[in-house]
Parts: sequence; structure tokens; C-alpha cells
Amino acid sequence: MSFIVRNFQDSDLEPVVHLWEVTPGMASVFSIAECIAALRAGGTAVVAVHQNIVVGAAVASIAESRAWVMRIAVDPAHRGEGMPSALLNHLEGRLVNVGVATISYLLAEEEQMSEGLLRAGYVRQEPAAYWEKREALTPGEATTLSALGGRVLTRDLWKRLAGMHGEKDIIDKRVVMPLSNPERASAHGVAPPHAIVLFGPPGTGKTTFARAIASRLSWPFVEIFPSRLTTEPAGLAQALHDTFALIDDLEKVLVFIDEVEEIASTREGVGKSPAHGVTNELLKIIPAFRQRDTRLLVCATNSVRTLDQAFMRPGRFDYVIPIGPPDSIARAAIWESFVSQSSRLDVDIAALVSASEHFTPADVEFASRSAAQVSFEREMNSGEVSELVGASTEDYLRAISQTRRTVSDVDIELFEEDIALYGRL
Ligand SMILES: Nc1ncnc2c1ncn2[C@@H]1O[C@H](COP(=O)(O)OP(=O)(O)OP(=O)(O)O)[C@@H](O)[C@H]1O
Ligand SMILES: [Mg+2]
Repeated sequence: MSFIVRNFQDSDLEPVVHLWEVTPGMASVFSIAECIAALRAGGTAVVAVHQNIVVGAAVASIAESRAWVMRIAVDPAHRGEGMPSALLNHLEGRLVNVGVATISYLLAEEEQMSEGLLRAGYVRQEPAAYWEKREALTPGEATTLSALGGRVLTRDLWKRLAGMHGEKDIIDKRVVMPLSNPERASAHGVAPPHAIVLFGPPGTGKTTFARAIASRLSWPFVEIFPSRLTTEPAGLAQALHDTFALIDDLEKVLVFIDEVEEIASTREGVGKSPAHGVTNELLKIIPAFRQRDTRLLVCATNSVRTLDQAFMRPGRFDYVIPIGPPDSIARAAIWESFVSQSSRLDVDIAALVSASEHFTPADVEFASRSAAQVSFEREMNSGEVSELVGASTEDYLRAISQTRRTVSDVDIELFEEDIALYGRL
């Protein structure tokens, strides 16, 4: 044997990493970065040394009473000298002494080490499929995201967004598809969007859409609440600047600013007020934000007409998309979704749809909740518990008649005007 095996020392890190890099044949389910992290965290490792040069290394990580052999690497010039067994042997000795009862080693099927492992007393277990899920965030990004109050949303929000097929279709084609297929988009000369505005009356689903887009893209979602950034109006521009500087650390992100008119309303007549400074800051932020293809800024507003026109100029926002009250088909889907969540009865959806004309999804949600509350109270009062429960068609109709519409006829007229004046799809 032309080598000796000894415990890993800190000064071995560099030569060991080099060895891993030049022996790619030794595939491992653990990446080199993970192996380095394990070594830094005091993971158990041993090295083989020939004439003071590291020619082999093995590292393991310990989880409770089980250790995982993460990687064994041997300098190709020293193959056939029994080095893997010698490394394993030494490694096992150390693991056993810290209370490890089971040592596991996941190897690629075609890996050549089987003979040596059998000789070393390892038993090949039933073939198992190796499953792995890559999460969207690195640990550093997770820290940044949590500092921003953001999160990765569940994957199903787009599917749960009922009805609204017109809006969904436009957002899908213009926004989601180019962002999730950037190479195909670019082959057609389609530039993926970087910033969009969603506008429409209150409660039509602008926030819901923004969240659903992030969910669909599997990008982290960060919502900026201008009013919560600082208590000092004069410091708002700086706070906005700092927030976007932090956002810059995220590789992929959807940034959502709700009620953007609060920080981007028309500057006319405002002079040098703090609001002016904030609008200017936002105008500076957008071009920088647009530099990267894996980020999307979504701004929502109820009053698109009060936005500063500089803010609305093409080049800043790729699309200005109206989100209006749902038509009857969309209302049917929205009613269906709320009714199916709360009632086991056979409810006449068509009757609810025609009784709730011009209702927003938020109005439908409110009426649906009121009806559910009524049916719950009825059961509590009667003292009879039944499986077949929930609000009836009559309960829903009564709740609808008691719900005040958020959006008036005048609001709808103004919205139609806004679509003609500002809509850009
Ligand atoms: N398509 C939909 N299907 C089911 N529920 C919906 C849908 N759209 C919106 N909702 C529900 O309606 C409520 C209002 O939606 P949301 O907050 O997204 O509206 P908004 O346009 O952002 O309102 P605002 O202008 O007040 O901020 C939410 O509780 C949301 O879950
Ligand atoms: Mg909203």
C-alpha cells in the first residue's frame, strides 16, 4: 500500500475539494458544495495521503444514529490499490465511536464500488428509487425573503382562482408563458414582461391574481406596503430604495405593490412634497428592476386615472391590464367554488348568478359567508346535527339581497372609460 489513511484536518480542505473536482466519475447524490459544508460543520472525514499529497478522501454526515457516506474520492492514479475500502474502514471506526449505528451509502447504479462494499460488510438493500425536490430558494435567499416579509406560495393558487377566464387567458399568454419559457419567447422575438399594472374596482381580484401569478411561476412573492415601510413620510423614498436593494438579492421574485396610487399619484401641484420624492424614487427603481428577466413587478390600483403619467409611459410597464367585475360565466365559477366549500346541499347556482349581477368576487365571498353563518346558526339553534348541511339556495339569495354591492353603475362606467384610456394588453 503506497498511502496512509488519517483523519481529515482543516488544512486538507483545499486538496480534498480539488480531488473531488477532478474525479467526476465518483458521482454522488451530495453536491460538492454540500460536502464542503459538511466538512466545515465538523463532518467526519478521512483522507488518504501519498508522499504528503492527498490522494483520497471520504466524508460522512451524521443524523442521529445514522451516518450517510456523502462522497468517496480516489485519485485516478491510485485506482486498484484498495483505497476506497481503507478510507471506509477508517471512517467507520470514527463513526462507530460517536454512536452511529447504521451507515448508509447511496451509490449510482453503475458505480464500481459494489465488490469493495460487499467485502467491507455492506449489504445491498432492496433497490430504491432516489427522489429529490429542489426548493426554489437558497438558504441566503430564504433569509432575505423572510426579512422582506415575503414567502413562496403554494403551487395551486392559479387553479383555485375561479372563473375570470378572459383575464386569466391574457395574463397567461402575455405574462406567465413568456416568463416560464424565456428561450422559446426570445426565439420568437417576444420580450418577457418585467412590470405590469392591474387596475380595476375594489374586490375584483387584483391581489388574488398577483399571488396566483407568483404561485404559477413558483417564484417567491414579496408584497410591499408603502404605508408600513416607515412612520416618517419624508423617509419613504429612502425606505423604498432600501427595500428594492434587498430584493436585488433574490434571483427570482414577484414584487407586488398594492394601492400603488398612494406612492405614484400625479405630481402636478404637489411641488416638493414627500409624495413627489417617492414617485421619483419609484420611477428610478423601475428601470433598474427591469434589468433582470427573472423578476416581475406587479402594481395594483383602484384608480388608474390618478397615476402619474410618467409612471404609465410605455417602457416602464409592459401591460396595463383591467381586472373587472366578473361576467355571468365567471360569477357562476366563483359561486360554484364558494358553495362547494361550504354547502352539501344542491344549490341553484344559476339563480345566484342572476341575482348577483355586478357583484365582485369579494361581494360573492361576503354573501356566501353570511349564508354559511345563517345555516350554522340554524343548526345550533335546532340542536339537530346532520351530515347533509349547509346553506340552501334561499339562504344564499337572502344573503345576496342583504349584501351591498361594492361597485356602483357609475363605477362601472368609469372603469369602462379607464379601459379605453389606459388599458394596454
Ligand atoms: N376569481 C376568484 N375566485 C374566487 N375568489 C376570488 C376570486 N377573485 C377574488 N376572490 C376573493 O375575493 C376577495 C377579494 O379579492 P382581492 O383581494 O384579490 O381583490 P382586489 O382587487 O385586490 O381588491 P382591493 O382593490 O380591495 O385590493 C378575496 O378574498 C379573494 O379570495
Ligand atoms: Mg388588493
